[in-house]
Amino acid sequence: MLEYILYAVGGFVALCIGLVMYSLVPNPMGYFRMRRVFNTKLQEYLKVPLWRPMDGSFHEMQTDLIGFFKRQLDYGNLFGVIPLWYVFDPNLILTKPEDMKQVLFGDDLQYYRDNTCFYVMHMVLGKGIINVGGMEWRNQHRILYKAFAPDNLMYFRPAFAARARKMVDTFKAHAQSGEPIDLLKTMNEITLGVMIDTAFGNTLSHEEQSEMRHHLMYVIKQTTNFVHQVPLLRYIFADHTQLKRRLGEMHSLVETSLIRRREGKSFGEVCEVKRHMIDLIIEANHSESEDGYRMSDEVMRDNMISLMAAGTETTATAMTWTLYFLDKYPEVYRKVREENMNIDLEHLAEPGDLTKIVPYLTQVIQESMRMCSPLGNIPGRRPFKDMQVGDLVVPAHVPMLTFAHQIHHNPQIWDAPEEFRPERFAKDGEASRDRLRFQPFGTGRRYCLGKYMAMAEMQVVLSHMVRDLRFEYAGTAEGITPAFRPPTIQPRDGMPMHIKLA
Ligand SMILES: *[C@@H]1O[C@H](CO)[C@@H](O)[C@H](O)[C@H]1NC(C)=O
Repeated sequence: MLEYILYAVGGFVALCIGLVMYSLVPNPMGYFRMRRVFNTKLQEYLKVPLWRPMDGSFHEMQTDLIGFFKRQLDYGNLFGVIPLWYVFDPNLILTKPEDMKQVLFGDDLQYYRDNTCFYVMHMVLGKGIINVGGMEWRNQHRILYKAFAPDNLMYFRPAFAARARKMVDTFKAHAQSGEPIDLLKTMNEITLGVMIDTAFGNTLSHEEQSEMRHHLMYVIKQTTNFVHQVPLLRYIFADHTQLKRRLGEMHSLVETSLIRRREGKSFGEVCEVKRHMIDLIIEANHSESEDGYRMSDEVMRDNMISLMAAGTETTATAMTWTLYFLDKYPEVYRKVREENMNIDLEHLAEPGDLTKIVPYLTQVIQESMRMCSPLGNIPGRRPFKDMQVGDLVVPAHVPMLTFAHQIHHNPQIWDAPEEFRPERFAKDGEASRDRLRFQPFGTGRRYCLGKYMAMAEMQVVLSHMVRDLRFEYAGTAEGITPAFRPPTIQPRDGMPMHIKLA
């Protein structure tokens, strides 16, 4: 009898331990995948111990990102690995252009991409284009590609300019106080405002827009709160319920906007844009296609939120770095200012790309994005089957990714990569179109759809800023340390800047 009681108690305890383990380890399969990765030929390349038993190279990435990338190239310029198995799958990092070409430009149906490793991001992106793969991706891509064609973006220029003018006025008023500002934070406010203006415009009232802004800011902030990764802990150490509620409210705001647009309602002149993103997507949805795919309202909603989430921090970070380099290289600043002194990008009839109008500013933005890529890594591609890549057989389901920063600073790919030289991007933008060497917007078939929009936004906003203002770095003498804050690479301690009138 006693025996049976002991068995029962033992079984119960084991079950409890199992449950607790299961709710604390978000990625139970990770360990086995890691074993498979390390049982491949990869071992030979790992000449130096690359990982700590639990948090892998993640610690190194947080404390010394640049060193981490450099050391990886020493490991034979083949692969690096992030074996943080208990949270993420081990990621293989592609460092050679030919491998990237195979994996990122090759047949997309051989790979899938799931962003479940970043739980909050996955939740926010929903069924939108960043999350899906296969045929669903191809269909959504056709519609969104059409909606975000460069020629459609001229409708957004007045919204970019209006925000920029407002900001310049605020900065001018602030300049008198002599207090430094946190430029990154301010830039985030501008890009978020621009996103909401251009996405919904007058289909949402001022109050609704500001609600959307607050929710989005909260949600974006939570994407880097890693407590959400862990099933049980996310309810104890993070406010997961609040996160879900705010996301739900954002959903209903997008739905409201869609309904009002269909009924032709608006809320007066909230901003001057004539066609908003929402209109462009609705229009593109009605265009003909062979297979008759149409985007459902739910998918449209998730895409609107994905676009806002993807287009805010990245663009703000890129503009912040650009202004940092303009301060560091006064000669470059002088030339940019001269170019933009008498240019009115807002009322230009020219459709599409502004690069021909402000060539030097464009080169400076591109070179700044090369030095400090706004997008840290592209999400990994996972092959459905074991796959030969370079010298290595990559086990099925193991994600392969690239880090733009590493590629942009690889001396085998760029000449003197540590030097700031906007002229690299002259010559008809040849270097900027080489999508293996230059990846600030990701690369391969799935590079960022908002690329032209982000470029136009940066050109218009920065063109306004350099005319009237100069920023002076107000941080410590050691300067700035770039750190990986997924998905962007940001100055680790923010970007304190003094504002001066130019
Ligand atoms: C796309 O078109 C289909 C069919 O015309 C329609 O049912 C759907 O609501 C449209 N989606 C959006 C977001 O307008």
